[in-house]
Amino acid sequence: MTMEYVSLPGEAPPPVPDGPKMCNGDDMRILHNAFLWGYEQAPGMVRGAPAGDTARSDFLGQWLADLDATLHSHHESEDEFLWDKLEQRAPACALHVGQMRAHHAQVAALLEEASPLLARWRATADPAVGEQLADAYERMLDVLKVHLRREVVEVVPVAERVVSAEEWSAMGDHSVDAIPKSRLLPQLGMLLANSTPAERKQFYAGLPLSVRVLWRLMGKRQYAKQYRLLFPGEPVPPTS
Ligand SMILES: [Fe+2]
Repeated sequence: MTMEYVSLPGEAPPPVPDGPKMCNGDDMRILHNAFLWGYEQAPGMVRGAPAGDTARSDFLGQWLADLDATLHSHHESEDEFLWDKLEQRAPACALHVGQMRAHHAQVAALLEEASPLLARWRATADPAVGEQLADAYERMLDVLKVHLRREVVEVVPVAERVVSAEEWSAMGDHSVDAIPKSRLLPQLGMLLANSTPAERKQFYAGLPLSVRVLWRLMGKRQYAKQYRLLFPGEPVPPTS
C-alpha cells in the first residue's frame, strides 16, 4: 500500500526538540508500509478462499497468524523501548505518546478478537466465520491507517532527536529476535517488496549479518515460493 505520511486536518504534530538527529527512523516507515500492505490483503484473502477447503484456509491462516504475531511483536517493542523514553525526554510529546498507547490498545483488542476466529476459520474454512474474520481485519486496517501514519509523522521526528542510534537499533533487534527465522525470512521479503529500491538497500544494510546471510541462502526463495502459493498466477514482486 502507498501511504502518504502527512498530517490530516485537525492533527497537530508535537514540536520537534532542537539538536541534531541521533538516530535514523526511516525504517519505521518502511516497516509500516509492509504492515499496511499485509492488512490490505487480509480481508480479500479470507473472503476469496473456497468454502470448506481447509487445506487452503490453513495455509492462508498461517500467513495471517504470522502477520498478526509480527504486528504484536512490533508493538510490544515500542511499548517496552520507546514510549517511556519519549515521555521523559520530550515531555511536549506526551499527549501524542498517549495517543499511540491508545492506538496500540485498539490494535491489541482487534488481534484478540481475530485470534479465535482465525483458528476456527483455519480449521473449518466456514465462510460465515471467514466473514467475521475479514470484518475484523477491515477494522484493523482502518486503525492501522491512522496509527501507523501518525506514528511516523508525529512521533518518529521527535524520537530521532532524543533516542540514540544504539537505543533505536535495540528496539529493532528486540522485534527481530522475537520472530522465528522461518517466519522472519518470508516477511522480510514482503517488506523488501513493498519498499522503493533506495529504501530496500537502506533497510537491508541495517539488518543483522546473520539475517542477511539467511535471506540470501534461503529467504529469498522461501518468499517467492510462498508468494506464488498465496497469489497464484501473479508475478512475484521484486525484492532486490
Ligand atoms: Fe511502529
